[in-house]
This record gives sequence, structure tokens and C-alpha cells, in this order.
Amino acid sequence: MAYIKIWIFLAVLALANTQKTSVENYYGDNMHAVVRNDEYIDAHRRHYAGNIWYYDFQINKFKEAYLERVNSFEYQKEALVRELIRVDEHLYPLTVLSDFSKACVQKYKSLIPSMAWAKSEMDRCISVASNQANSLITYMSSTNRTLQSHYATTFEKELNACKTKFNTTSPTNYTICLANAVALTNTYTLNNQKSFSSQLQTAKNSVAVHMKTVQECTFGVYNTTVSRISEANSRIDTCLRGNDDCSHCSGFYCQEVFSMHHSLIDPQNATMFNPFYRREAGKCLMMNIV
Ligand SMILES: *[C@@H]1O[C@H](CO)[C@@H](O)[C@H](O)[C@H]1NC(C)=O
Ligand SMILES: *[C@@H]1O[C@H](CO)[C@@H](O)[C@H](O)[C@H]1NC(C)=O
Ligand SMILES: *[C@@H]1O[C@H](CO)[C@@H](O)[C@H](O)[C@H]1NC(C)=O
Ligand SMILES: *[C@@H]1O[C@H](CO)[C@@H](O)[C@H](O)[C@H]1NC(C)=O
Ligand SMILES: *[C@@H]1O[C@H](CO)[C@@H](O)[C@H](O)[C@H]1NC(C)=O
Repeated sequence: MAYIKIWIFLAVLALANTQKTSVENYYGDNMHAVVRNDEYIDAHRRHYAGNIWYYDFQINKFKEAYLERVNSFEYQKEALVRELIRVDEHLYPLTVLSDFSKACVQKYKSLIPSMAWAKSEMDRCISVASNQANSLITYMSSTNRTLQSHYATTFEKELNACKTKFNTTSPTNYTICLANAVALTNTYTLNNQKSFSSQLQTAKNSVAVHMKTVQECTFGVYNTTVSRISEANSRIDTCLRGNDDCSHCSGFYCQEVFSMHHSLIDPQNATMFNPFYRREAGKCLMMNIV
């Protein structure tokens, strides 16, 4: 469909170029001149409509391509969700194997980010980028509007002015007047197209920046998730080997925590301060060396 439209657009361009010669070839009678002038103006109107169509086409294509690239990050979200499912499948058997292995899993499972968190963080990264789509095309859309308004008002006003100024009184001057209006609008179009091209280029450069941002954002979520999974796994493994490291579970094992000043500990002394002296230790007592 797009190719057909481009082809039609090019055909209109070619027609507009051949029609330009109608002014130069003007030698006929008045009636003939009227027809030629109308054709000449209509060809330019079609050409101008083609310019607007092509702006619209480029803006929409640009936005579409941008959103498609942003959307490709959905795959990273899905990969992360699959990773979390895989971890869950790996840990589940341990929770049914024994009370001991279940306790190890339950103690460290909370280190692993939830699926809801991972999904919403990924969505946040993606939506920050997709929300940029409209601001990326702001300048181009405004340039499109400016040109359309020039064609619809300025150009048409100039044509009407030619009509009221010359018309039947001087067909030659009328034709020249029209040609001047067309020339002015063509110059305006050319400058407008230069602005549009540079705005498109700027927008393309901004896309690279936004892509880098979304990539860093999703990588951050991925890295955090994978790092925490790996930490949980290694702690669960340590726990399963019976080598649980209590520096990771301060205040977790025992309700009773006994604070002891480090000066009371002397590695060279075979005897030391007895924290249980005249004290009900209960089932569990932790020492917190301060
Ligand atoms: C460009 O301008 C035309 C004419 O006003 C309008 O129909 C079209 O929606 C505009 N395109 C964009 C992307 O703004
Ligand atoms: C000149 O003016 C008359 C009356 O307003 C109109 O019918 C005719 O089409 C005009 N000629 C051109 C060349 O526009
Ligand atoms: C048409 O243009 C010629 C040359 O510029 C000028 O001499 C003549 O007065 C013009 N005719 C009218 C009706 O304006
Ligand atoms: C990945 O995450 C870990 C833990 O949060 C952090 O230490 C590390 O610096 C991160 N790596 C990168 C490349 O951001
Ligand atoms: C060893 O520690 C005990 C108890 O804190 C203390 O009474 C004793 O003096 C220490 N002995 C030496 C040689 O420092």
C-alpha cells in the first residue's frame, strides 16, 4: 500500500513538473489560457497535497518504527518472568523434601524479587520510552501543520488576489501573477522541507538516546533480579549444607540477644567472661559483639 502511495506521489510530482511549462507555453486565446491556468494551479495543488501526504507518511512511519523498537523490550520482560518461574520450579521441590530444607528455602526466598515487581519495573522502563513517542514528533507535526496552513490560506489568498487584480483585464499578467504565487510557495515549501529534514534527523538522534535509557533501565531490573536470585540460591545451598552463616540472620534465630563489648574478648586468654553467669539462657541466646 505504501509503495503504491509513493508511486502515486511521484506521478503527481512528475505531472506538476510538466505543468510548469504551461506558463512558458502560453500563447493561446483567453479561453484556452483560462483552462491552462486552472490545470496549472490544480497540478500544483495536487503536488502540494502530495507533500503533506509524504510528511504525514514519514511522521507516522517514524513513530511506528520507534514504538516497535520500544516494544521489543517486552521480550526482555518475558525472559525475566521465565527466569523467575524457573527459579520457583527449582525451589518448590525443596519445600516439600523436608522441614529442614523447607526452612532454608523460606528463610531466603524473600530475597528473590516477586514476579509482580519484576513485571511492573520492566513496564515502567518501557512506558517511560513509549511516552516519548509523541514528543519526538512534536516539531515535525508542527512543520506539517505550518506547510498545510500555507497551502490552504497563504497560497489560496495569493491566487485570489491574482484573480481580482488581473483576470480578464490582462490574461498575460494574470498568468504571470499565478506563476509568481507558485514560485513563492515552492520556495516556502523548500525551506519548510529543509526544516522537516533536520527535525527528522534530530528525532532519530533522540531515538538512540531513548533506546540507551530503556536498555539501561531494563538491564538494571534484570541485573537486580538475577543478582538476588543468585544470592538467595547460594544462601539456601549454604543453609542446606548446615553451614548457615548467622551474620546474615542477626536477630532471626533467637529472641534473646546478648550484647557484649569486644574488649571482653581476648583470643590469647583461655578463660573469658561468662555471659550465662546467673542468667536464664532459655533455649536460644545470641551474642552481639559490639
Ligand atoms: C499533517 O497535516 C495533515 C493536514 O493538516 C493532517 O491531516 C495530518 O494528520 C498531519 N500529520 C501529522 C502526523 O501530524
Ligand atoms: C474572471 O472573473 C469571472 C467573473 O468573476 C470568472 O467567471 C472567471 O472565471 C475569471 N477568470 C479567471 C481566469 O479566473
Ligand atoms: C501587465 O504587465 C505589464 C508589464 O509589467 C504592465 O506594463 C501592464 O500595465 C500590466 N497590465 C495590467 C492590467 O496591470
Ligand atoms: C548488578 O547488580 C549488583 C547487585 O545489585 C550490583 O552490585 C552490580 O554492580 C550490578 N551490575 C551492573 C553492571 O550494574
Ligand atoms: C583472662 O580473662 C579473665 C576473665 O575476663 C580475667 O579475669 C583474667 O585476668 C584474664 N587473664 C589474663 C592473663 O589476662
